[in-house]
Amino acid sequence: MSALSTDAQVRPSDIITAVQRLEAGELVGLPTETVYGLAADAENPQAVAKIYAAKGRPADHPVIVHIHRQADLAHWTDEVPETARQLAAAFWPGPLTLILPRRPGVADACAGGQNTIGLRCPSHPVAQAVLAIFKGGQGGLAAPSANRFGRISPTTAAHVQAELGDGLLVLDGGACAVGIESTIVDCTVQPPRILRPGQLQPTELAAVLGVSAEVLLRPAGGAPRVAGALPAHYAPRTPLLLRTREQIHADLQQADNAARRIGVLARHARAAEITATWMQLPDDPAGYAQGLYAALRELDQAGLDQIWVEALPPTPPWLALRDRLSRAAHGSGAGGP
Ligand code: TXA
Ligand code: MG
Repeated sequence: MSALSTDAQVRPSDIITAVQRLEAGELVGLPTETVYGLAADAENPQAVAKIYAAKGRPADHPVIVHIHRQADLAHWTDEVPETARQLAAAFWPGPLTLILPRRPGVADACAGGQNTIGLRCPSHPVAQAVLAIFKGGQGGLAAPSANRFGRISPTTAAHVQAELGDGLLVLDGGACAVGIESTIVDCTVQPPRILRPGQLQPTELAAVLGVSAEVLLRPAGGAPRVAGALPAHYAPRTPLLLRTREQIHADLQQADNAARRIGVLARHARAAEITATWMQLPDDPAGYAQGLYAALRELDQAGLDQIWVEALPPTPPWLALRDRLSRAAHGSGAGGP
């Protein structure tokens, strides 16, 4: 266990217990570098069904399968496109999920009726330690984010227990370093296409593939295939509105807003005259992502009438965060267009 960071609360015996439960078809809360997952044996349909029940997730939403870094991809897919090989070589273990053609009959319960499989090799040492032992290192762990369907993803073990209850064994691997969900790339089409933006930048993926970032970001036709692609997702219960810095300051001066309980999530410090509940996140995409979901959870529990989030810069490094916040605004009590 020497690979574990010193702040991790996981002992080797906890890893063994988690693996035993997973092999027995039980659920375990699993830390990854992006967000915490709710894990089950991907090839045990009864176990995967427990994930859907615990999350309240519709049956047609496929779940990601997490694999060890030495896992044999041929178990999951008959055909690894060259582009997938290139991306896996460059970014695994890490916050990248690859959609591949699924070997017929494998992990049907994870597929939501599709002939594809989403594979991810997480870099978190606790996740890798579990995957190294689970089914001798060749198993897959189905693990969507460990939140109730449509809600904010958990980035600490305490968030998972708050979402899903104390009965669940959660391995406490500390606060997630990335803080938002993995980048999902569909490698069943060529060139590949980004289905969900994440910390890995389109330009980084494009450089490995020798294509332009715009090509990877081209829109898809048809209905969304990714749960995170529904407009309402990642949402707090409190109405959430996106506002410019100027709007926030102008509107907080107005009397009708002074009477309301407003929480502000900003990238700059609170001015002395402002009395609203104020949370400040770093003004850089990596630091902002790391703190975002914990901040939204805290504001959501503060008994506020509204959460005003300072709109993000329109530049490429903020793409994934703009994506999450626009969905949070849409799915929150504020609704959306
Ligand atoms: O960072 C992450 O990806 C986290 C951690 C736990 O690994 N997991 C995560 O899982 O965000 P989830 O289920 O909340 O989101 C996974 C997304 C869903 O939107 C799902 O529809 C999509 O991946 N997905 C999974 N398998 C797929 C497939 N075969 N085809 C298309 N989309 C797929
Ligand atoms: Mg999720």
